[in-house]
Amino acid sequence: MSKLWQGRTQANLNKKADAFNSSISFDSRLFKEDIEGSCAHAAMLAAKGIITRAEADEIEKGLMSILEDIQSGALEIDMSAEDIHMFVESELTKRIGEAGKKLHTARSRNDQTATDLRLNLRSETDKIYASLVGLIDALQKKASSHINTIMPGYTHLQRAQPLTFAHHLCAYAFMFMRDCDRLKEARHRININPLGCAALAGTTYDIDREMTTSALGFEGLSQNSLDGVSDRDFCVELLSDISIIMMHLSRISEEIVLWSSWEFKFIELSEGYSTGSSIMPQKKNPDMAELIRGKTGRTYGNLITLLTMLKGLPLAYNKDMQEDKQAVFDSIDTVKSCLELMSLMIGDMKVNAENMRSAAAKGFINATDCADYLVSKGLAFRTAYKTVGSLVSRCIETEKTLESLTLSEYKEFSDLFAEDVYKFIKLENCVKKRNSKGATSPQSVLSQIEMMKDFINSVSNPIATT
Ligand code: ARG
Repeated sequence: MSKLWQGRTQANLNKKADAFNSSISFDSRLFKEDIEGSCAHAAMLAAKGIITRAEADEIEKGLMSILEDIQSGALEIDMSAEDIHMFVESELTKRIGEAGKKLHTARSRNDQTATDLRLNLRSETDKIYASLVGLIDALQKKASSHINTIMPGYTHLQRAQPLTFAHHLCAYAFMFMRDCDRLKEARHRININPLGCAALAGTTYDIDREMTTSALGFEGLSQNSLDGVSDRDFCVELLSDISIIMMHLSRISEEIVLWSSWEFKFIELSEGYSTGSSIMPQKKNPDMAELIRGKTGRTYGNLITLLTMLKGLPLAYNKDMQEDKQAVFDSIDTVKSCLELMSLMIGDMKVNAENMRSAAAKGFINATDCADYLVSKGLAFRTAYKTVGSLVSRCIETEKTLESLTLSEYKEFSDLFAEDVYKFIKLENCVKKRNSKGATSPQSVLSQIEMMKDFINSVSNPIATT
């Protein structure tokens, strides 16, 4: 394809260098945003008398026909073009002639690329946000049916205190709600208009940047043209938010892997979300969760790619910056597919409440409650802690549980023990009593679920409205 920049050079670019220089293989997905940005630019040029109204109309009609043809498949994007911006512009000139050549007045590919990318990331941010809301909804639905399902809670992966499964799921929902908040913040900084910054110094034409800002739905415009064309902070910010989402997803994935193992058997994934082994017939592997855990790495990699690419770059545009898109698009595609899969898996997982309950019965996870019992009878907590420690040692020696010790055995350790200790250390009661704000009791978890429902209802039309 001949080059639109055949000015100073004759564009006799070496074939290998040409291919190396090209970004169309990965920026062709910006075709819609490129056309949208160009339409707004042409309308502004006409409003300011820089081109005629008739020329702007021709440009808009031409661009719309290109859009339709790409979408219907009638026009194939030419992969030998340098990038999507060059492709659209030369196709336009092919279709409408002279007027097409006026589109690039008062504009550079530098502000054009930044504009297209911002428009694209704005809509992708909304999609990721919507997927997060979907996942929060799946978690709250699953949690709602496990308000009374008791499981062991862990610290150091050692059984610690009893929890409800609902409480555990809600913990993840709160992480994803924070992720929504972060995206909402990032969106404000993505949604800024660089169009009109031109190559780096602005333009001599009397343009109206406010006009393209409102036509394209931006919240504001970049106030310094050098910064406008060289700023990729919005990409870094989105990639770091995506990395945090993936980090959260990798943690729940790890739990799904553990919970579905023979050692835990807390949940079972249906055949729809697990695979077999080519050699071991008994296997049912949680591949989806493992893949989500694994894909987290590439999103961290993309973030580091971008930070490293930008490090030490002098102002303004440098070709290094073309490398931004692959990293950003890869993370976007990754997080969207992972969020979708995770929502489906959460909805589908079968919870083995009996196994959770019997795991909770082992490991003395009511030892804290036993100490609290002695505190309720007047003992200092530190002393009670020691007494229960000795009780647990006795249980381990005699292969008993705190529930199965007789009252006379209890009394060997403290006279304060009475018949009511059994009720006090019953797991269901341990859970019910943990009723402080944010705690694991069914009542507390129900109010956490209410918060999630309120959040979901408040974003029926995601962040676009805020
Ligand atoms: N494809 C390029 C990119 O994505 C477009 C910008 C090229 N600008 C330039 N002055 N050569 O960064």
